[in-house]
Amino acid sequence: MQYPFDRLTDRRNTDSLKYDFAEKRGKPRDILPLWVADMDFPAPPAVIEALTEKSRHGIFGYSEGREDYFAALSGWYCKNFDWEIRPEWLVKTPSVVFAICAAIRAFTKDQDAVLIQQPVYYPFTESIVSNNRKLVVNQLIYADGKYTIDLRDFEEKIVQNQVKLFILCSPHNPVGRVWTEEELTAMGDICVKHGVIVVSDEIHADFVYPGHRHLVFAGLNPAFSEITVTCTAPTKTFNLAGLQISNILIANSALRTRFRHEIGRAGYSQPNVMGLVACRAAYTQGQEWLDQLRAYLAGNLDCVRQFLQAQIPQIRLVEPEGTYLVWLDCRGLGLDDQQRERLLVEKAGLWLDTGTMFGAGGEGFERVNIACPRATLKEALGRLQKSVENPSIT
Ligand SMILES: Cc1ncc(COP(=O)(O)O)c(C=O)c1O
Repeated sequence: MQYPFDRLTDRRNTDSLKYDFAEKRGKPRDILPLWVADMDFPAPPAVIEALTEKSRHGIFGYSEGREDYFAALSGWYCKNFDWEIRPEWLVKTPSVVFAICAAIRAFTKDQDAVLIQQPVYYPFTESIVSNNRKLVVNQLIYADGKYTIDLRDFEEKIVQNQVKLFILCSPHNPVGRVWTEEELTAMGDICVKHGVIVVSDEIHADFVYPGHRHLVFAGLNPAFSEITVTCTAPTKTFNLAGLQISNILIANSALRTRFRHEIGRAGYSQPNVMGLVACRAAYTQGQEWLDQLRAYLAGNLDCVRQFLQAQIPQIRLVEPEGTYLVWLDCRGLGLDDQQRERLLVEKAGLWLDTGTMFGAGGEGFERVNIACPRATLKEALGRLQKSVENPSIT
């Protein structure tokens, strides 16, 4: 079966955060949104069928994942990542950000230091700050078009600040790195050495471009498994974010008990039944759809790369190794962040995520979500080109 990723689906008036809330968020009503990380593609047909069947049954009472739910999850991780998980490791939460906040509260106290690697997915920073913890940043190094980790700074910051928790973004949003075994091992060894607990956010694990391989951090070494809370979810992969389901895996029983306790304190118990149904269907019947989606996204990436090279060489694509988010180095435009934002919103009619949202090192960059039909992407690139050629607004 060939899945129609080229087909345009009108998402307006569907309660979509991306399409229905522009004005509320201070943007023009008809702006083209390529910001928040969900996709403009319907979920796999098997997922839609499973949800339809559940919906027809009509009873949406308290629900739990049965053995077949765990089998679907463990089968996916075994087949795709060679990672064996046990049923008792699993704690379900409504979202990964919810789990990150819970982990921060479970494993650290007020004012304890939590380390992240900016520029990074901005809710990491918000989760740390809003829970009254100290934000410590190991800024990624950007050189020759590629991001790498400053390992010396990583260890120094941990020691100087007595860091208790490290939130790893793997693959990394927004810079698109798929960390290598060497990089993950180096970070893991330092965390083990200094007693740092790791929250490994691997929500983008299924989006890796050819030539790269996602490695589950906790699967690399039993010592890493003992200190790690691995955050997974089917929601990015199969476009299910609105169904609120994520699967958190914690091998260490003491950590798991503390984490569960914190989840309980937040008043959360059973998951959303539609999330359970969708997750099980996706992990058992979604592989072929995902394979085709990845090929389509690789085509979208080619389209962005070629267009920028030919039409807007002032903007440089930071070549992603994973995720459907691309990180554009816009410094060649010669505009400051505010001027560029005005150009994008007012002139181009584009809603992107501006780099400064991602913290240190984000100045001069924009993040673009390319998980949309190619026609939408081409429309966005065309608007960008026109605005750059006639930047009178600044
Ligand atoms: C790295 C990362 N973690 C978590 C999330 C959000 O996950 P959730 O909706 O489960 O909180 C995103 C969404 O873009 C993300 O990029």
